[in-house]
Amino acid sequence: MPVVAPINTRYRRLEHGQGRVHLVAREVTRPTAGMVKVILSPELVGVCRSDLREIVGARHLRRDFGHEIVGRVVSTTDEAVVGGGERVVYDPHPAVDRTSGFGELVEIEGTAEAVRAALVPLGPEVAAATGIFAEPLACACHCIGRLAAASQLTGIDPCSRVGIFGAGIAGALIAAALHARGVPVALMNRSRARLDRLRSSGFLPAELFSPGTPRPGSFQRLIVATSAAAPEIMALAAAAIAPGGLMVLYAGTRPGDRLGDLDLDATRRAEDTVPVTFAGHTLTVAGSHGATRADFGQAIRELVGGRQGPWLLPGALSALVTNQVSLAEAPDLLTRHARDGFVGKAVITI
Ligand SMILES: NC(=O)c1ccc[n+]([C@@H]2O[C@H](COP(=O)([O-])OP(=O)(O)OC[C@H]3O[C@@H](n4cnc5c(N)ncnc54)[C@H](OP(=O)(O)O)[C@@H]3O)[C@@H](O)[C@H]2O)c1
Repeated sequence: MPVVAPINTRYRRLEHGQGRVHLVAREVTRPTAGMVKVILSPELVGVCRSDLREIVGARHLRRDFGHEIVGRVVSTTDEAVVGGGERVVYDPHPAVDRTSGFGELVEIEGTAEAVRAALVPLGPEVAAATGIFAEPLACACHCIGRLAAASQLTGIDPCSRVGIFGAGIAGALIAAALHARGVPVALMNRSRARLDRLRSSGFLPAELFSPGTPRPGSFQRLIVATSAAAPEIMALAAAAIAPGGLMVLYAGTRPGDRLGDLDLDATRRAEDTVPVTFAGHTLTVAGSHGATRADFGQAIRELVGGRQGPWLLPGALSALVTNQVSLAEAPDLLTRHARDGFVGKAVITI
């Protein structure tokens, strides 16, 4: 039996235009014939750096406003795709049409296959404040998978220390996920503020932070997780890698980004693993892009607390959250963060 929200139900959601975020009232629209339509009621939605880039018009190709969602299915036109009442996290990679994720309701429409793929079941044992990390952690797990595969392909010791360039949320999660697996990491950042905040919050043990510019050739394996693959960042990262070493490119790329002869945007999106000669030495670049359903499964298992030890990922995640605001407070916060930048993670309570 389909469980369908009445057409024209009014609800509030965030939308953006001309660099500002607005709280607007909208109505549930009629399902498109032949498509599955699901409506979510979000509990909590995380703010991703890409949301802020979208607000200021600096996002290339994708539009995913409000995609770190923990919510419940309140309406479905096909119970065989997802059941009414099911608690889920949203996977933004399958091709569905949807409304802003920052809303009292989120309307999602697509083929049965795409809608099923976009909604990942989340058990009651994962608190919403932890569950909003499922998507960014799934991308981090995917990156770690790419690191392992490319290490094997290039014959590099899979237990060797990994340098991580960029201690934003992405770099911090990759470092945490590697640390949870017992892989030695060194988390680096251009400015001290992010490392200091992560260190003082107890997010990771202090010895994993590595302030300052890395010495040339000091890593066999390095992951670039900075906000962009700008030439000066790539040159610094390439110099930090020993000859014959491996760079995993996780940072967002744009058409035209290059390292020597290598097209970085194509390499990342196709998840290629390719050798390149840069500044007199050869290294291998491996792209990491998105996450699979298996990565979501892995991430959720980690959020449930699958691993044992003195340091536990689910407990550490709360240290990343710097602001928690209501939907009504969010337009001002998001507009300011998009304009001025910020450190940490903001979450919106619906
Ligand atoms: N591959 C994937 O599937 C995937 C998934 C999610 C995100 N991403 C990408 O991961 C990247 C990081 O995301 P995030 O959310 O962690 O972003 P973020 O919070 O904005 O952090 C960006 C980091 O980049 C550093 N940075 C910025 N400009 C720099 C420069 N010129 N030189 C050196 N460092 C610089 C910042 O250092 P400061 O503290 O000094 O400003 C900060 O540590 C983004 O490009 C995002 O698109 C990729």
